[in-house]
Amino acid sequence: MNSAEEPKVVVDAQAARAIGKGAMIVFKKGVVRVEGKVRPGDVVEVYTRGGVFLGRGFANPNSNIMIRLVTRDREAEIGKELFRERIRKANDYRKKFLGYGTVYRMVYGEADYLPGLIVDRFNEIASLQISSAGMERFKLDVAEAIMEVEKGVETVFEKNTGRSRRREGLPEIERVLLGREKWRTIIQEGRARFIVDLRGQKTGFFLDQRENRIALEKYIRPGMRVLDVFTYTGGFAIHAAVAGADEVVAVDKSPQAIKTAEENAKLNDVADRLRFITGSAFQVMEDMAGRGEKFDVVVLDPPAFVQHEKDLKRGLRAYFNVNYTGMKLVKNGGLLVTASCSQHVDMQTFKDMVIAAAAKAGKFLKMVEPYRTQAPDHPILMASKDTEYLKCLFFHVEDMR
Ligand SMILES: C[S@@+](CC[C@H](N)C(=O)[O-])C[C@H]1O[C@@H](n2cnc3c(N)ncnc32)[C@H](O)[C@@H]1O
Repeated sequence: MNSAEEPKVVVDAQAARAIGKGAMIVFKKGVVRVEGKVRPGDVVEVYTRGGVFLGRGFANPNSNIMIRLVTRDREAEIGKELFRERIRKANDYRKKFLGYGTVYRMVYGEADYLPGLIVDRFNEIASLQISSAGMERFKLDVAEAIMEVEKGVETVFEKNTGRSRRREGLPEIERVLLGREKWRTIIQEGRARFIVDLRGQKTGFFLDQRENRIALEKYIRPGMRVLDVFTYTGGFAIHAAVAGADEVVAVDKSPQAIKTAEENAKLNDVADRLRFITGSAFQVMEDMAGRGEKFDVVVLDPPAFVQHEKDLKRGLRAYFNVNYTGMKLVKNGGLLVTASCSQHVDMQTFKDMVIAAAAKAGKFLKMVEPYRTQAPDHPILMASKDTEYLKCLFFHVEDMR
């Protein structure tokens, strides 16, 4: 469509100011009016109330995120060429600037000016996740661009499942979109190796915690007992075992994740030092605390308990319970690694929750690592606060006396 025919969306002063500072998203509440008919995925022009042009992007009147800005250029063609160029830039950033090899997040949505698109690369397989109706229309172009930009990628797997798809009114699809029929590979991460099965959760593997998992290794000594709660396919647990822990217990409620975790233990030759429990973390930790069990290291990496701002209070209670019980399980002088991937919980709120849990558990906490966040291949675009979500803190835990 010629830009002259594109529908126009007028936004309020707050949304306009945010766009001016670099934001790429406009929520429904920031939209004043829509001129013309807009269907999900249509390209629209965005204006201030006073008629100043702000940019062009994808709209979805059915979604809470009503506009995802793509360009501030009035004339730019929103299509294959533009996306190919941005994918190339995003890939170059990881490889040339950050120095990643063949396993990394290649595209992280707005942070790479590709709203609604996530691409994780696991060696020869790229896992693609689209969460906007606009980007959905270009998914084959995107898949072609990925293979063109990175010749080592032989398969683009479409991992189009999950809540964000449903929110945009998009169907759930999980299949090879382009290239060879393949969905499993083995990746190297520090001293550990992992089977990545793209039919698992999210894109198949939580790359965002990579540097934090590797950071755990330096605190592990022979003779240690480690507990990894919400382990998924063995993430922190495998690193602890590879680094020399004597006994590692890992918990997750997903039987499929635990099955892959067991395979990962064998792959790393540490199966004799790992024990997996399939079940609710809350119950398992309560039972352990009831029996007076203690660990040198406890890792807590739960799913996002706060999915929406309105769930903040309830979600924080869940974080509090997990952290309170987790702290009781750490030996005096041991290590607690605690994380939150909820975008709506900022670092200060997370710290306040941890402080409250420590007070109730009767513990002093000392930070032993600087504030840790998501891996650098999930860049935080300073102007776009939605791009920052992961918090991961390492604490030395002592009894309060
Ligand atoms: C953020 S992921 C953990 C990622 C993992 N630490 C890693 O490094 O790969 C959260 C995990 O929590 C699990 N989970 C969600 N709710 C749970 C519950 N109530 N009890 C136990 N596990 C749960 C999910 O199955 C998922 O594997």
